[in-house]
Amino acid sequence: MQKRTIILGTAIAALLLAVGAFLYMKYAMRGFSARAEPSHVEAMLAVYARSTAMPSSAKGTTNPVADSPEVEHDAMAHFADHCAVCHANNGSGDTMFGRGLYPKVPDLRARTQTLTDGEIFYIIENGIRMSGMPAFGGQDSAEDSWKLVRFIRHLPQLTSADAQQMETMNPKTPADMEEEKEEEEFLNGGSNDAAPHTNHSRKGHHQ
Ligand code: HEC
Repeated sequence: MQKRTIILGTAIAALLLAVGAFLYMKYAMRGFSARAEPSHVEAMLAVYARSTAMPSSAKGTTNPVADSPEVEHDAMAHFADHCAVCHANNGSGDTMFGRGLYPKVPDLRARTQTLTDGEIFYIIENGIRMSGMPAFGGQDSAEDSWKLVRFIRHLPQLTSADAQQMETMNPKTPADMEEEKEEEEFLNGGSNDAAPHTNHSRKGHHQ
């Protein structure tokens, strides 16, 4: 008798949960658009689920790479090359990709600073499922990832000079390089007598 009540209770709870999830998806999520902003509850649940799914040993791992100007420089170049396309050089997440993803790219200078070093490392190595955050881990990646953790801790104090330096480290297409060369030649009053043709639509895309 008691067993039957438990089974019935579980079945009713599962049904209510399914109906709730259906109604939530239909009315609260408003389709599949990546433009929407996750609700507070959804963001909280996602962070909670992520934290629960992470092995506790990973969270407590301390950074084996000591901080130094070289480490910061390496990590800065790495971040500018691989991460800034979504996260922006200063970590704000204010980029074309960052704004267009769901969930949005978070400000690495804010909430991220409350994560442990181990959590940040784990995220860089393994990515975040069902989000735009790729897994960067691979053979021999650990040292680079730990350096990136150092750099992320440094982001809130990033100077505008650092950010400027990073712009020279951002990925460039051959067309970008050609354009820069033409601009430089033009500014130096060089042989190129035509004004540099700038492509504004493309310019707005790399940050
Ligand atoms: C294609 C876009 C993209 C690239 C490239 C990318 N990220 Fe992310 N990243 C994201 C998105 C989207 C999230 C948010 C995921 C979420 O909230 O579930 C994220 C989240 C994170 C977080 C967790 C922040 C938090 O507060 O939860 C860290 C740390 C991070 N990224 C570091 C990096 C590093 C370091 C690199 C480069 C090696 C990188 N990301 C490259 C899209 C990207």
